[in-house]
Amino acid sequence: MSDHDYMTGFGNHFATEAVAGALPAGRNSPQKPPFGLYAEQLSGTAFTAPRHENRRSWLYRLRPSAAHPAFIRYDGASLFAPGTSEAPLAPNRLRWGPLEIGPQDWLDSLTTMVVAGEGPATQTGVAIHIYRAQKDMENRAFVSGDGEMLILPEHGALTILTELGRLDIKPGEVALIPRGVRFRVTLPDGEARGYVAENHGAPFRLPDLGPIGSNGLGNPRDFETPVAWFEDVEGEYQLVQKFMGHLWATDLGRSPLDVVAWHGNYAPWKYDLSRFNTIGSISFDHPDPSIFTVLTSPSDMPGTANVDFVIFPPRWMVAEDTFRPPWFHRNTMSECMGLITGQYDAKADGFRPGALSLHNQMSGHGPDVASWQGATAVDLKPHKIDGTMAFMIESRWIFQPTDFALRTSALDEDYDQAWTGFPKAKLPD
Ligand SMILES: [Fe+2]
Repeated sequence: MSDHDYMTGFGNHFATEAVAGALPAGRNSPQKPPFGLYAEQLSGTAFTAPRHENRRSWLYRLRPSAAHPAFIRYDGASLFAPGTSEAPLAPNRLRWGPLEIGPQDWLDSLTTMVVAGEGPATQTGVAIHIYRAQKDMENRAFVSGDGEMLILPEHGALTILTELGRLDIKPGEVALIPRGVRFRVTLPDGEARGYVAENHGAPFRLPDLGPIGSNGLGNPRDFETPVAWFEDVEGEYQLVQKFMGHLWATDLGRSPLDVVAWHGNYAPWKYDLSRFNTIGSISFDHPDPSIFTVLTSPSDMPGTANVDFVIFPPRWMVAEDTFRPPWFHRNTMSECMGLITGQYDAKADGFRPGALSLHNQMSGHGPDVASWQGATAVDLKPHKIDGTMAFMIESRWIFQPTDFALRTSALDEDYDQAWTGFPKAKLPD
């Protein structure tokens, strides 16, 4: 097995070692772990969480995580996790074009666009960040204590080196780094841009399938978790930690990516979105977009997600006597959308890969005029929407743009124009 291999399954209990004999057998915390490694439990849920919710892994590492000096404030990523405006939030629909790629590394390039929910203090809500980097993270690692990070590349591949193994992803694939797992990111293509959804609430899980049955949507076997991998690096090594919405740094004097073996079900994974088994109508109308849910983070209100991760992948449209694009709608849930590639079927233009749009609770939205006209007039033959991948981060909480998001020139000042010029319906005389 090489250090690039993956183990398959969602939430499985894995066991892996980068050095033969490093993983203790039959117990978690032997008196003397192999090779003098330090045993450490990393919990992603309360110890007492029900068994089917319980997530934890045991790590066997060169030195304990506890060995570090005090953290001091870190100011190298000034657009990452800033506060939001005190001004009242207008109920406007907002859209941003792609942000420019800059000279920074992945961490310092992170730019927070919107935040929803109360955040880290109450472990609710989600934040959406955009990365746009041209430099590898070298001798530094990042960890969020505030939430798990769902990473969605839009441009350029990423190598994500984590405590539990190495993930290689490219646009069309996504990766999840659990809360508290340390990692660094390098750029095989020299530059990269994409989205991060930082989920402050309950960990993402696969949605229930109800009448769909036991297969479909994201199938568990397509989620890939890396085998154990580590680096043995001594010397200056910065760890930046996000904690309660602020960034903190310390110098460890060694790499924190020193886990030689681990076992458990709390681990990073990657997923190829083209593996999503897309289900839709074969008669008329189309189901609510919840049919495209890849992952869900439940809240304390049944059926009402803290955050859902939803995609709009290539698919056949065959419904008869049906307006096939997304209908006009107003929702109690709030929606933030991004585009990884191609074109989204509700917007004829203005929504490019790397863009972001925001439709908060009860804001009216749906197709623009050109999309509405086209879909109303078209001959309804079977039609394949192809070469596209849009996604939505949907939440029961309201998204609040950051000050940067409200003042950047990437903000589309004319977004409301998408819904002007609709002809009035004609009633009979
Ligand atoms: Fe919507």
